[in-house]
Amino acid sequence: MKRIAILISGRGSNMVALSDSIRGGAIPNAEVALVVSDKADARGIDAARERELTTLVVERRGRKREEHETEIIKALREHSIDLVCLAGYMRLLSPHFIAAFAGKILNIHPSLLPSFPGLDAQQQALAHGVKWTGCTVHFVDDTLDGGPIIAQRIVPVLDQDSVETLSARILEQEHQLYPEAVALVLQNKFALNGRRVVGTAVPATSGQ
Ligand code: GRF
Repeated sequence: MKRIAILISGRGSNMVALSDSIRGGAIPNAEVALVVSDKADARGIDAARERELTTLVVERRGRKREEHETEIIKALREHSIDLVCLAGYMRLLSPHFIAAFAGKILNIHPSLLPSFPGLDAQQQALAHGVKWTGCTVHFVDDTLDGGPIIAQRIVPVLDQDSVETLSARILEQEHQLYPEAVALVLQNKFALNGRRVVGTAVPATSGQ
């Protein structure tokens, strides 16, 4: 059984999508072993408790990043975590944290990376005037939203879109994409070819 930790800071809808997908059997042989929030009042913490998931609040406020992360890493180790899923976790992880779980940290971002990394990705897409945007699940490395891309979904930008309407349509896709990407990673059905995450079901190209 693969043990997943989900790190949140807010609403937690992707955490709920992952947890419900696991319970529904869409991510085989896995469990949400721990939900960590850096904010005591995160709505997602209530949603996790309603689902009887093990939760842990590690408040960041007033503490140094190193001390805060050390406590989280310790908890992840104590819970024998195999995969860490960032889901609206609003802190950048230090290289030390990333190295401690090398290749085992995923993030979901509400744009088609490498376009619009960082905060307010949907607003960035509207301001730029793109006609298509979407969402991306990627491995976390020590660049901002820049690790190898595991999976993406596209979403059209409509003329009448506001940040709210566009975000809501992207979020719907996020809730499908994240479980799919987690299932792929946990079942080891991929290979890393440079920056490219390729499915191992795809036959090798013949060099043409
Ligand atoms: C999502 O849009 C996700 O892509 C981004 O932060 C938001 C988190 O939403 N990283 P939720 O907390 O999962 O509802």
